[in-house]
Amino acid sequence: MKKVLVTGGLGFIGSHTAVELLARGYRVVIADNLSNTRPEVLDGIERIAGQRPEWVNVDLADQSRCRTFLAAHDDLDGIIHFAASKAVGESVEKPIAYYANNLGSLCLLLDWLREHSECAFIFSSSCTVYGQAETLPIREDAPVKPAESPYGNTKQIGEEIIRDAVRAHGLRAIALRYFNPIGAHPSAAIGELPLGVPQNLVPFITQSAAGLRGPLKVFGNDYPTRDGTAIRDYIHVVDLAQAHIVAMERLLAGEATEPFEVFNLGTGKGSTVLEVIQAFDRAAGDATVEWQFAPRRAGDVIEAWADTSRAAEVLGWRAERSLDEAMADAWRWQVALGAAAPDDGTR
Ligand code: UD1
Repeated sequence: MKKVLVTGGLGFIGSHTAVELLARGYRVVIADNLSNTRPEVLDGIERIAGQRPEWVNVDLADQSRCRTFLAAHDDLDGIIHFAASKAVGESVEKPIAYYANNLGSLCLLLDWLREHSECAFIFSSSCTVYGQAETLPIREDAPVKPAESPYGNTKQIGEEIIRDAVRAHGLRAIALRYFNPIGAHPSAAIGELPLGVPQNLVPFITQSAAGLRGPLKVFGNDYPTRDGTAIRDYIHVVDLAQAHIVAMERLLAGEATEPFEVFNLGTGKGSTVLEVIQAFDRAAGDATVEWQFAPRRAGDVIEAWADTSRAAEVLGWRAERSLDEAMADAWRWQVALGAAAPDDGTR
C-alpha cells in the first residue's frame, strides 16, 4: 500500500484529495495545524471514505517539529503539499508571516526530500502566477507576471525553489496551477469552511443565501466582458482533487518526461460573476442570493480561464463536473452546516 502525506489535509482541497486517495487504496497521513480549519473535517473524511486517516497536528514551518514528524514517517511514497496561508489581503498586511510560513514549510519538506528522492512531490500552485494574461485561454507557457500580493509571490517563488531543488538534488515534482476551486463533496460531509467573512465568491454567495451575511457585493460592472463583470474559470473541487491523484501516479510510475512539470487545472470555460449567481439560483431550489454592484476590488484581474489541453493530453485528465453541479454541491454543504456555519457576528 503506497503511503502519501497530505499537508493541509484538513483544508478545503486537501480534505477532498485525502478522500480520493483513500478511495484508491492509498494510506494517507495528514499533517495539519488547524490554522484555517476544524478537526471535525476528519469525521467528514471518515464518513465518506469509510476509514479514518492518521492526522498529526503539526506546524510544518516549525523546523524541529517538522523534522521530528518527517523522521517518524520515513516510508512516504509521495507528498501532496497544500498547507499554506492563502488570504490575499492578509498577506499584504503580514508579508513576513506569509513568506515564513509558506516558504519555510516548503523548504523543510524539500530538504527532507534530498534524502528521499524517490518520494513524489506535488505542489499547490495558482493561476495567480499569470496575473492578467495577454492571451486567453491561458497556457502553461504564458509569462509569469510580477505578483500582486505576497501570497501570490509565495506561489511564484515556491515554484522557483522547487525547480532549483529538483535540478540540484534529482527530485521529481509537479506543480498544479489551480484556477478557481469551488463546490463541495456531493455527500455534503466535507466542503469549504472559511473562518470569518468569506473573501471568495462562492462561499460568500452560500453564506449570504443562508442569511449569515448581507447581500453579495459584485465587484465591478464595467469590465470589458460580456456582461461587465469579471470572468474566472470555476472548477469543482472533486475534479481538482482527482487531478492530484493522476499527477501523483504519473510521478510514481516514472512517466514524467521532465523532472519538474507544471499543469493548469481548470475547466477551460470562463464564467462571469453574474453567470455564477445565475447558476446558484438554478441549483439552489428556493434559495436565492441578493446582490448589488460595488466598485472593482483592488488587485482583481479582468478575466482568466485555462487552456486545459496539456493536462488532457499529458495527464489524461479533464474536469467533468459543471458549474451548476458545483453550485448545487456548495449549497448542499452550506445547508448541512446549518447553524454550525462559521459566524463571527460580522455581516
Ligand atoms: C482569489 C485570489 C487568488 C487566490 C484565490 C484562492 C484575489 C485578488 N485573488 O482569486 O490569488 O489564488 O482567490 O482561492 O483575492 N467577487 C465578488 N464579490 C465577492 C467576492 C468575489 O464580486 O464578494 C468576484 C471577484 O471580484 C472575482 C470573482 O468574484 O471576479 C472571484 O473572486 P474570488 O472567489 O475571490 O477568487 P479570485 O479573486 O479569482
